Amino acid sequence: MPEHPSDRYVISTDPDRLDIAYIHAYLSQQSYWAANRPYEVVEHSIQNSLCFGLYDTTTGQQVGFARMVTDHATFGYLADVFIDPAQQGNGLGKMLVEHIVNYPEFASFRRLLLATRDADTLYAQFGFEYITDNSPYYLMEIVRPQQ
Ligand SMILES: CC(C)(COP(=O)(O)OP(=O)(O)OC[C@H]1O[C@@H](n2cnc3c(N)ncnc32)[C@H](O)[C@@H]1OP(=O)(O)O)[C@@H](O)C(=O)NCCC(=O)NCCS
Repeated sequence: MPEHPSDRYVISTDPDRLDIAYIHAYLSQQSYWAANRPYEVVEHSIQNSLCFGLYDTTTGQQVGFARMVTDHATFGYLADVFIDPAQQGNGLGKMLVEHIVNYPEFASFRRLLLATRDADTLYAQFGFEYITDNSPYYLMEIVRPQQ
């Protein structure tokens, strides 16, 4: 039987387990959305988010990350989702997003939101819907791509 990702990998919200240097290195050097983000900014964002780390139980190494920016009551914004490039394409992204979407604390939230350039069909598999012209709401933003 093929190995399921959850046989080898585990997701944790323990802040002490996060490898901030690793997360910063990925975000600042490899992501398309957080290039050059300073270490202190990454650290501060982690301190003030509900973070999900994905770990390889055979090595103990962190191999994925995502954080929910949330008021812990009504709203969450999913950000900085990534899987280690060496581990991509093996179902870990789906494991991580599914875990977050089903995280008990978020079940009563009115809205979960995210922005993505090209991973929309990943999130669509777990209930995220496109905002369409038929939506009764305008979603508006101020965006500063260099920050
Ligand atoms: C996007 C990412 C988190 C997906 O994780 P992964 O472990 O590589 O992907 P998985 O093996 O779990 O499969 C993802 C599924 O979503 C689909 N998908 C949609 N957009 C995708 C994208 N941009 N990259 C990877 N997969 C994508 C895949 O085709 C796959 O579909 P399937 O169910 O038919 O197999 C990961 O590739 C990554 O970190 N990419 C770089 C950073 C990034 O783009 N993060 C998302 C920012 S919004």
